[in-house]
Amino acid sequence: MKILITGGCGFIGTALVYRLLRQSTDTVINVDKLTYASNPHALEDLLPHPRYMFCRVDICDAEALAEIFVVHSPDLVMHLAAETHVDRSIDDPRPFIQSNCVGTSVLLHEVLRYWRTLPEQKRQRFRFHHVSTDEVFGSVPEGRYFTEDSPLNPSSPYAATKAASDHLVWSWHGTYGLPILVSYSSNNFGPRQFPEKLIPVTLARALSGQSVLLYGKGEQQRDWLYVEDHVDALLAVLHHGRPGRAYNVATGVLRRNVDVVTAVCAELDRRRPRRQGPYRDLIRLVDDRPAHDRRYALDTSRIRDELGWRPATDFAAGLAGTVAWYLDNTEWQDAMVKGQYRGERLGLGQPA
Ligand SMILES: NC(=O)c1ccc[n+]([C@@H]2O[C@H](COP(=O)([O-])OP(=O)(O)OC[C@H]3O[C@@H](n4cnc5c(N)ncnc54)[C@H](O)[C@@H]3O)[C@@H](O)[C@H]2O)c1
Repeated sequence: MKILITGGCGFIGTALVYRLLRQSTDTVINVDKLTYASNPHALEDLLPHPRYMFCRVDICDAEALAEIFVVHSPDLVMHLAAETHVDRSIDDPRPFIQSNCVGTSVLLHEVLRYWRTLPEQKRQRFRFHHVSTDEVFGSVPEGRYFTEDSPLNPSSPYAATKAASDHLVWSWHGTYGLPILVSYSSNNFGPRQFPEKLIPVTLARALSGQSVLLYGKGEQQRDWLYVEDHVDALLAVLHHGRPGRAYNVATGVLRRNVDVVTAVCAELDRRRPRRQGPYRDLIRLVDDRPAHDRRYALDTSRIRDELGWRPATDFAAGLAGTVAWYLDNTEWQDAMVKGQYRGERLGLGQPA
């Protein structure tokens, strides 16, 4: 199979590309604009690779996309490219509207044109897999879980632009019959995540002796999914999901942010103790993010029952491996920051 992946230089995209190159015979065409959040060096240990092609292209560029479809003729498309950091979407929603909404619409347009030209058998097998997030459903009250059919009710500009892209994808299925798949995943964690997200920013700040910021009282609850388990789910949905269907992906276990940050600090205490005392002493409560959703929770019975997917990594083991990876790869973290981000507080609600 030839799989075109958008956003393959991002956190999840990198894990997905690694998996496909190491454990399948598929060819990967990676379409990525290389924003600040990307990691063009992530795959260097595998490159050059006979089954890997990289195209530095913005998904808003219709002409470039059209050429890629003609030249590479993919069998499947997995769409991960997006602006993804909620805090940045609060400070400036415009790149989110551009990449997540406009970019997805341009991509869909080109995918549809391409799909219509395919010979019957290849057209039947073709899938467009859109990778979405639990954030599109908004906050869910205690004791309740959102299903794939729950209404979208996004709170942040990031979630709103992802929800908009979901609507576009569904409409391309309903209107034109494009064989789409959608997956809604909970918060991912693991190696190679840009150091602005909760776990890597906690590590970066703690290791440099800065205070570790906790929004509000850290009572927000999230379902933390190890990135390799997400990759398993993405491939299960891609290869075995029913076209025109969505699948929730999550572990079913919720954790408060305060507990996640405390667990990261405890892991650091074990691996790199601080002379001045435990890392949790660095935790400082700061003003909450505007419109911060309190609780995300997904009902995952569909992916479990229909596709047999289960998360394989428990949180403690995943976190231990993740912290170990960041400690062993501090130069990676430094290179990613590229002078653009120093762990400062973002998302205080002063839009540009
Ligand atoms: N990280 C999570 O916890 C999580 C959870 C659920 C869903 N998701 C979704 O999964 C996808 C991947 O997330 P991630 O955490 O790997 O994101 P990321 O921010 O780490 O990477 C995004 C990638 O997309 C690329 N990109 C952005 N705009 C682009 C454009 N206009 N054209 C081409 N490439 C562009 C970037 O260069 C980057 O390589 C996103 O769609 C996100 O909404 C992420």
